[in-house]
Amino acid sequence: MEILRDRVAVVTGGASGIGRAMARRFAAEGMHLVIADINAERLAESAAELRSTGREVTEVVLDVSRAEDIAMLADTAFDRYGDVAILCNNAGVTKRARSWELTLDDWTWVLGVDLWSVIHGVRTFVPRMLTQGAPAHIVNTASVTGLMPLIDMASYCSAKSGVVSLSECLAIELAEAGAEIGVSVLAPGFIDTNIGESGAHRPAVFAESAPANRPRSTTGLEATMTADDVAGVVLNAVQQNRFWILTHQQYRSSLVERAEGIGTDARPVSFRVV
Ligand code: NAI
Repeated sequence: MEILRDRVAVVTGGASGIGRAMARRFAAEGMHLVIADINAERLAESAAELRSTGREVTEVVLDVSRAEDIAMLADTAFDRYGDVAILCNNAGVTKRARSWELTLDDWTWVLGVDLWSVIHGVRTFVPRMLTQGAPAHIVNTASVTGLMPLIDMASYCSAKSGVVSLSECLAIELAEAGAEIGVSVLAPGFIDTNIGESGAHRPAVFAESAPANRPRSTTGLEATMTADDVAGVVLNAVQQNRFWILTHQQYRSSLVERAEGIGTDARPVSFRVV
């Protein structure tokens, strides 16, 4: 995708962290923004910042795990602009506990926000993108832990590896259909954002939560990249239609080692943040 100016980007999780940085980067390219988030207050702050760049900004407060909310998001974007150039299925949450300690509420909440949201995004936006008569690109935010296991993060890793698989299937299917829709899967390593506060907007219906008995794997570590750095890498991948967006190249050798271990006597090893 070459021409982004005056086209629209839809970003979920646009109130904070990587989503907010992507929206900022797209605005700098002259794009209009539709940003969506469950956190109305932070979303308004993000929208105000983006508007100060002179671009049009639409805010949508929603819960990405709900199909009807994503349908409303798509209606908002297509009704206002007629077509969508970039969709970032990005909102996400984490929950730490051993696999067997995670409650049903933990699993339902994490899979809803981290995987079902992307399923809803694909089901809702792609049919309209196929007929909009202008090229489009979809960026699905997974994680490097969608490609490698991380101890205490089974629900998150399960969701994120689902996002990777869905994105791979989607890319193949769109290419086979000859569609002008690119797909990228974003697999960041550790970025210092507000993701540690995920629980703040956990719906009350998912109240039963396993205690997090152990510290985060990133405790005491300094992130080697910022959300703004990630946004720059994403923009580049969209412009060059690259599928894999591995932000931290230092993990590539571990990923290759894991892939080569499949079908051998190798045992799973937890991802180690460095
Ligand atoms: P963040 O917490 O700063 O931003 C995530 C945004 O998603 C927040 O504004 C939050 O309010 C929103 N959100 C949460 N639940 C929602 C819901 N049900 N509906 C709508 N919005 C909701 O975190 P960050 O790090 O920017 O996360 C963005 C994405 O990047 C997530 O998918 C995360 O899993 C992924 N990621 C983050 C990494 C990191 O180290 N920060 C590493 C790998 C992946």
